[in-house]
Amino acid sequence: MSEKYTVKSFQKSKENHEKITMLTAYDYSTAQLLDEAGVDSILVGDSLGMVMLGYETTLEVTMDDMIHHTKAVSRGVKRALIIGDMPFLSYHISIEETIRNAGRFIKEGGAHAVKLEGGAEIIDKVKALVAAKIPVIGHLGLTPQSVNMFGGFKVQGKSEAQAQKIIDDARLLVEAGVFAIVLECVPEKLASKISELISVPTIGIGAGNGCDGQVLVIQDVLGMYKGLQPKFVKRYKHLGDEIIEGVASYIKEVKSGEFPDHSHTFGMKDDILNKLY
Ligand code: KIV
Repeated sequence: MSEKYTVKSFQKSKENHEKITMLTAYDYSTAQLLDEAGVDSILVGDSLGMVMLGYETTLEVTMDDMIHHTKAVSRGVKRALIIGDMPFLSYHISIEETIRNAGRFIKEGGAHAVKLEGGAEIIDKVKALVAAKIPVIGHLGLTPQSVNMFGGFKVQGKSEAQAQKIIDDARLLVEAGVFAIVLECVPEKLASKISELISVPTIGIGAGNGCDGQVLVIQDVLGMYKGLQPKFVKRYKHLGDEIIEGVASYIKEVKSGEFPDHSHTFGMKDDILNKLY
């Protein structure tokens, strides 16, 4: 196993111009596979509300949902840095509640860091978490927990005012002590500019190739999710189709009696069988 990827490795990667890889995972066996493949960081995203729990948005996800899935992921990971995504309203009410909830990700979930969506409006919470020695990653641009404010999942930062606000927020987050910032669904040129302007790595999703790293939702990468399919997603595999094919073969073989055959069954001695009544 190569060296553990840590918050310090994020900074080193940016300095060395080495792209950072991040994927989401929500369960033990997937996390194990991603770690074995060598991904630098695993985000237990609140996107689990959509891809694992079947909600239309991430807003319904609870702290207990997140802790349950983070525990499973951390049991499967040896090298990657694990980030717990703080769900809607878990860091909006008070600093005390924010620290308590973030602390659960570290103490109960086994995460190494937490992610919060937002800029100026959450800076006091970010500072308090950093003071409590909890590493924080920011998230700007299309922040899905604000979907009702945005009026849908839309690209952010196209106008001068919006773009400048994202840059200002990025600077505030860096000052507050974040070790990286996710930029979601912003124009490529804006994301590149931010990546040049700030000292910490940017991790893009729908933000182009100028970011210091990339993140995608694993179900999208592997073609396993049939819901919302954003333009920025690249499908590297079509496991959804393969799963349907595999399950259809199983159904066919069970119905026809072809499965299970001898190679999948256990034997016993006939003299023992013959004594049974
Ligand atoms: O919840 C999530 O998966 C995320 C990524 C899309 C960045 O926040």
